[in-house]
Amino acid sequence: MKTRLNYVWGYALAVLFCACGNTNDTGKSADTNVASQQGLNPDIERKVDSLLSLMTLEEKIGQMNQYTGFWEVTGPTPSEGNQALKYEHLKKGWVGSMLNVTGAKEVTALQKIAVEETRLGIPLIIGFDVVHGYKTVSPIPLGEAASWDLEAIQRSAEVAAKEAAASGINWTFAPMVDISRDARWGRVMEGAGEDPFLGSKIATARVQGFQGNDLSSNSTIAACAKHFAAYGFPESGKDYNTADLGTSTLYNVVLPPFKAANDAGARTFMNSFNELNGIPATGDSFLQRQILKGDWNFNGFVVSDWGSIGEMIAHGYAKDGKVAAKIAANAGSDMDMESHLYVEHLSQLVKDGAVKEAYIDDATRRILRVKYELGLFEDPYKYSNETNEANVVGSTEIQEAVLDMAKKSIVLLKNEKQLLPLQKEGLNIAVIGALANDKTSPLGNWRLGAKNGTAVSLLEGLQAYEGNTITYVQGPNFVENDIAFSRQLEFNTSKKGLEEAVSAAKNADVVLMALGEHAMQTGEGRSQANIEMDPLQQELLEAVYNANSNVVLVLSNGRPLAINWANENIPAILETWHLGTQSGNAIAQVLYGDYNPSGKLPMTFPRSVGQVPIYYNHKSSGRPNEPSPGEVFWSHYTDESNTPLYPFGYGLSYTSFEYNNLQVSNIGKNRATISVTVTNTGAYSGKEVVQLYIQDIFASVTRPVKELKGFEMVPLESGASKTVTFSLTEKELGFYDNQGKYIVEPGGFKVFVGGSSTTDLESKFTIN
Ligand code: BGC
Repeated sequence: MKTRLNYVWGYALAVLFCACGNTNDTGKSADTNVASQQGLNPDIERKVDSLLSLMTLEEKIGQMNQYTGFWEVTGPTPSEGNQALKYEHLKKGWVGSMLNVTGAKEVTALQKIAVEETRLGIPLIIGFDVVHGYKTVSPIPLGEAASWDLEAIQRSAEVAAKEAAASGINWTFAPMVDISRDARWGRVMEGAGEDPFLGSKIATARVQGFQGNDLSSNSTIAACAKHFAAYGFPESGKDYNTADLGTSTLYNVVLPPFKAANDAGARTFMNSFNELNGIPATGDSFLQRQILKGDWNFNGFVVSDWGSIGEMIAHGYAKDGKVAAKIAANAGSDMDMESHLYVEHLSQLVKDGAVKEAYIDDATRRILRVKYELGLFEDPYKYSNETNEANVVGSTEIQEAVLDMAKKSIVLLKNEKQLLPLQKEGLNIAVIGALANDKTSPLGNWRLGAKNGTAVSLLEGLQAYEGNTITYVQGPNFVENDIAFSRQLEFNTSKKGLEEAVSAAKNADVVLMALGEHAMQTGEGRSQANIEMDPLQQELLEAVYNANSNVVLVLSNGRPLAINWANENIPAILETWHLGTQSGNAIAQVLYGDYNPSGKLPMTFPRSVGQVPIYYNHKSSGRPNEPSPGEVFWSHYTDESNTPLYPFGYGLSYTSFEYNNLQVSNIGKNRATISVTVTNTGAYSGKEVVQLYIQDIFASVTRPVKELKGFEMVPLESGASKTVTFSLTEKELGFYDNQGKYIVEPGGFKVFVGGSSTTDLESKFTIN
C-alpha cells in the first residue's frame, strides 16, 4: 500500500515547482497579476498550476469524474462488478468527487484512499443534496421563500452547511434557483417560486449562507446553483421535459437568479436534464461557455446532472457515449456525475484531437481551485471529525434556526369567523387527518440525510399546549406512507375512518384538519396533471365541514394547490408547506398566536390546472379587457376566470395593515425614489412584507404588467406606522432586450405598492 508520503511528496513538488514559476519584470508571477484581476487567490492559482503540471491526462480526467457512494467504505472492499471497477478507479486517482457518502467515519475512510493510495494524493470533494437541511431539516425551499425573510433564509442555509460539514460533506447541490410558473412540476417545492427578483435575492442569501465568508472553515460548504438552465420551464409541467424559450424570458426570468448566485460567489453550477431550444443544456456551450464562463466570468466548476451527459443520446443529440462525452466537455461541463463517460472516453477523445487538452486543463484547474479553497489540501479530513459531528448534528442552535425558519414560512390564506388564533384554554379541539400524526412527511421530499420519523408532528406540537382538550382521529389515510425515494406513491381509496372523523368533529368546538399533499407527491419525477386535493381528502373535508363548520384547514403541500371548494367554504386556511423537523411546533405556535403569521406566497395559486402557467408578471396581450359584458373576443377563458385563487405576494396576518401616502420623488435619469406609509391598524403586533412593483408602460420589447422591484419586512406594533422608502435605479428600471443586452429606456412607469401583487395603490413617473 502506498502511504501518505505519496501525497506529501506530490504536494511538496507542486509547491517547489510553483516557487520557480515564471516572473515578469515586476518580480511577480505573470499569473499572479491575471489571478488578482479576476478576483482569484494568486497563491491558490500557483498551487493549482503546479499540481496540474504533475498530472497525467488520465489523472486530470479523473478529477472530472464523480461517482455516487458504492459501498460501505468501513466494511469489506468490493471485489466484483461495477463496484470493484469504481474502487479501482478511486485507487488510481481517477475519481475527483463522490456524492451520497455521508458521516465523518465513512468520509474519512474514503478520503484516506484518495489521499494515501493514489499517486498524487488529491483529496475528494464530497457532494450531497443538502437542499433544505441535512439531518435537521428546514421547510422546503418554496416554503422558506414564502417568508420573504432573507436573514432567516441565509441563517437556515448556514446551519444546514454547519451540520452537513460536520458529517464529512463539503459541497451541497443547492440552491436550486429554477424559476417556475407551473404548479404541475413536482420540483417547484425545491425553488423560490415564480419571480426572478425574489428568486435572485433568495439565491444570494442561500449561497452566502452555505459558503459564509470563508470557504475553508469547517462549518461552510461549497454551493451549487442548479439547474442551468430553464429546467423550471418543462413543457406541460412534466419533469425533464423540453424547454423552448425566447431570449426575453431566458434573460429576464430564467437567468437572473443564476447570475445572482454567481455574483454571490457560488463556487459550482449544475447543468440540467432538459434541452433548451433544441440543445440539451449539458451539451450547450452557449449557456456554459458563452454566458456562464464568458459573460459572467464564473471561475468555479460545472457539474453535470445525474447521468445527463449520457442522456444526450436519448435526447437524440449524441449518437453514442463517446460523442456525448465530446459534446459535454467541449460545451464546458467540467465534471461528469455518474455517466461514467468522461473516464471511459475523454482520454481517447483528446488523443484523437476531438477535445482540446486545454479544455481538460481548464476543467481540472477549476475543480482543484475549489478543493484548495475548501482547505482540503491543507487538511483533507477537516470536514470529518467524529467528535465535532456528535456535537453539531441536531444541536439546539440548529433546531432553533429551523424552528424560526418554519414559523416565518407559514402563510395565512383565510381567517374568517375569528377562528384564529385559537384561545389557549377551554376548547375541545378535534384534530383530523393522517398528516397531523405524520412525523416523516413534514421533512419534505429532499430529506436524504434525515431519518424518517424525526419531525415534530402537528399533533405533538399541539399537545405541547396543555389548556385545551385534543381528540385526534386519523380518518381515512389517503396514501401508503412508507415509500422509497424512487417509487411512485400509491393512493388509497378506502373510506375507513370517515365516520369516526365526522363524529369527532360533531363534538368539537373547533376542528383542525391536516390535509394537502404527502411529501412524496412532490419533488423530482413527481409532476401531476391534477393539482387539487385527492378525492378521498376532499370527501373527508366536506363531510367534516357538514358536521361542524368551524374548520381550520392546515394545508401541507409542496406546490400551489387548486383548493376552490375549501376557499369558498372553510373559514380558516393556513398554508404550512412541508415545514421540516420542527414542523408541529411551528404550526402550533402560529395557530395559538404566539407567532403572528407573516408569510406571503412566492407562487400564484391557480383556480384550476387549466390556468397553468399562471403568474403575476405576465404580459398584457392586445386584448386584455372584456370589451362589453359577454363578448368573447378578448384574452380569457369561457369557463374560468382569469384571476388566480391566491395571487403572488398574498398572505394575511392576525392584524391588518393599511397603506397610504404613496409618493414618487427624486426623479432623474434612470432613477426615482418611492415612499409609502404602512400602518398596523389591527389589534396585534405583526410583520408586513411591503412590496413594490413597477410597470414599464411602453418599451421596445413588451414588458410585464407588473414586476416586483423591492420589498421590505416591516415589524409594527398595533397602531404604529412606518414610512418605507425604495430607490429605483437602472438596475430595477431596465431589462434585457431580444439580443440579451441590458437596456434602460426613457419613458413612463407605473408604480404599485402594497401587501401583495394585486395591490392597487399606484402612481406614475417618467424618466428621460
Ligand atoms: C437531481 C439533482 C441532484 C442530483 C444528485 C439529480 O437527479 O436532478 O438536483 O442534485 O440528482 O442527487
